[in-house]
Amino acid sequence: MTGVTLANLVKNYGSVQAVKSVSLDIEDGSFVVLLGPSGCGKTTTLRCIAGLEVPDSGDINIGQVRVNDMQPKDRDIAMVFQNYALYPHMTVFNNIAFPLKMRKVPSAEVKTRVQKVAEMLNIVELLARKPGQLSGGQQQRVALARAIVRQPKVFLMDEPLSNLDARLRLYTRAELKRLKQELKVTTIFVTHDQAEAMSMADKIAVMNAGELVQYAEPYIIYSKPASTFVASFIGSPPMNLMKATVSVTSDGTFLDTGSFKYKVSGTFADAIKKSGVSDVTLGVRPEDLIISTKQASDSIFECEIYVVEPLGANTVVDIKLKDGLYKAVASGTFRADVGQKVWVSFLPESTHIFNTSTGQAIT
Ligand SMILES: Nc1ncnc2c1ncn2[C@@H]1O[C@H](COP(=O)(O)OP(=O)(O)O)[C@@H](O)[C@H]1O
Ligand SMILES: [Mg+2]
Repeated sequence: MTGVTLANLVKNYGSVQAVKSVSLDIEDGSFVVLLGPSGCGKTTTLRCIAGLEVPDSGDINIGQVRVNDMQPKDRDIAMVFQNYALYPHMTVFNNIAFPLKMRKVPSAEVKTRVQKVAEMLNIVELLARKPGQLSGGQQQRVALARAIVRQPKVFLMDEPLSNLDARLRLYTRAELKRLKQELKVTTIFVTHDQAEAMSMADKIAVMNAGELVQYAEPYIIYSKPASTFVASFIGSPPMNLMKATVSVTSDGTFLDTGSFKYKVSGTFADAIKKSGVSDVTLGVRPEDLIISTKQASDSIFECEIYVVEPLGANTVVDIKLKDGLYKAVASGTFRADVGQKVWVSFLPESTHIFNTSTGQAIT
């Protein structure tokens, strides 16, 4: 079994705390994405696992083995980077074969294994070319093939798709996901792209400023973000966050944002009351805000259209409230004029309530 376990991993560069006590349990055969903004410590974490950085403290286990003192080459991992680092003077075949030849694999076996991964990645017809004769996407597939051919216990991938153009990135993302199902090798994939993480991961580890802030299945990260940081990092457009005050009266529990006030009930009201917090942040995903050009019985507030962005499949509607601009996602056919009055509703149970001072989720 080759899961990967990090226990209280710490890595400092001088006074920069790149990784602050990260503990993470990655199951054998799973695909885990380290997600977070630039500089949050993703690459450093990956490089510690690879053995390219020496942690200040903490344990790294691959399978049942503590690998802290093991050379990178003995850890049985393969790494794929953002820049593919292919050998320019070698053919694609020799690039892919290189790690096998280094390990003195007999040449007949090298041939079969290279052929097999080349078929898997759809690059058979490129085997005789040199990297300079390939497109970026083809080069990236060769780099993946070179990592896969060794059949390592663990793959480490650091933003491997970010040098590709948007269209190719979407295509390669799906290919990688297929490949993951075929290979079932434990993979740690680093990205700052939330859509990439959502679409590929078995589990997402969200990092912020050197810390692991949430580790869960993509759907949980989306539907139950642990903090305002996670909430605003996942989803496109990101979640709307509005400051609100809690008031508990004999009529029930109310949230007042200054622009509108509404009643919360059931488990939401219970959780808010139990927390004892009165300054909260209300989070509503754009896809949960319902815009209507007419007032209805469930309308929660009235506001003005700031701008309408038709995107084909759907329309992003920017609305203007007293304290700022918020986004809603409406159907592809929704149209309204700038400055027009609209009514907005949402299901109170589709919202997220956070403690404003800590940023942590209450509900
Ligand atoms: N070799 C290094 N020397 C000094 N600081 C570094 C070095 N590598 C990374 N850092 C710093 O450590 C922090 C985490 O960096 P990194 O792990 O590369 O983040 P990410 O991959 O999430 O963008 C950043 O503040 C970065 O500037
Ligand atoms: Mg990085």
